[in-house]
Amino acid sequence: MYPAAALVARIPLRPFASLTKESKIIYTAVAAAEATEHMKLETERLILRSFRDEDVDEMAQLFANPDFMRFSLGVFTERKKTVDFIEKVMGWDRAGMPSQFAVVPRAEDAVIGYCGFYHHPEVPGEVEIGYRLHPDYWNRGLITEAARAVRDHAFARLKLPRVISLIHPENIPSRRVAEKNGMTIENQIMFRGFPALVYAMTREEWMAKRDAG
Ligand SMILES: CC(C)(COP(=O)(O)OP(=O)(O)OC[C@H]1O[C@@H](n2cnc3c(N)ncnc32)[C@H](O)[C@@H]1OP(=O)(O)O)[C@@H](O)C(=O)NCCC(=O)NCCS
Repeated sequence: MYPAAALVARIPLRPFASLTKESKIIYTAVAAAEATEHMKLETERLILRSFRDEDVDEMAQLFANPDFMRFSLGVFTERKKTVDFIEKVMGWDRAGMPSQFAVVPRAEDAVIGYCGFYHHPEVPGEVEIGYRLHPDYWNRGLITEAARAVRDHAFARLKLPRVISLIHPENIPSRRVAEKNGMTIENQIMFRGFPALVYAMTREEWMAKRDAG
């Protein structure tokens, strides 16, 4: 749950409209080709795969967990909200848009969270990397591992011009994940009534870090 909101300035994000025509074309063409319905990313310990209808039961349990839902608008008390989430992200998959991945440990047949891309009407033109993990698995570096794979996918395969993460200033674990993912604070905005640090990384910054080894 969000702590009490602090007053912060509303600073506009860079809109999609400000991207070059070429970036928009690349984004649209590559996203359509790459963000397919059955996308799978693999890391040392995790499989990140597209969501399926059958994930509703496991996800409903996670969304009902207050720790899993820290820094959100609250737990889901109705199953329909989980169904809506899964339909939304599967709709992004079908539309060829960057989407969320179910996080599955290689050693287990269980969905323990999600990590992937969000699209928010409040921040048009931006693609967010967002994540949540079952609390039993916290602090093992798992979401850092997942978020790195998602970031690399964004830049290497989808050729996105930039990604952001919107994080409440008091959400230290999430801020650490963003920092370990090479993102830096660009500004602070109000997002859905709460302050959010805008962590960002451009494709150029990602390429420079990659080339520096
Ligand atoms: C945010 C979240 C996904 C992180 O997942 P995770 O797999 O535990 O993350 P990692 O283990 O990769 O990294 C967590 C980092 O935060 C640090 N951390 C955790 N709790 C901390 C605390 N109270 N104070 C300082 N650092 C803390 C860990 O030490 C680790 O950093 P380190 O590697 O430098 O030691 C998980 O905490 C979560 O699901 N939280 C609830 C939902 C949420 O807040 N999602 C993000 C919304 S923006």
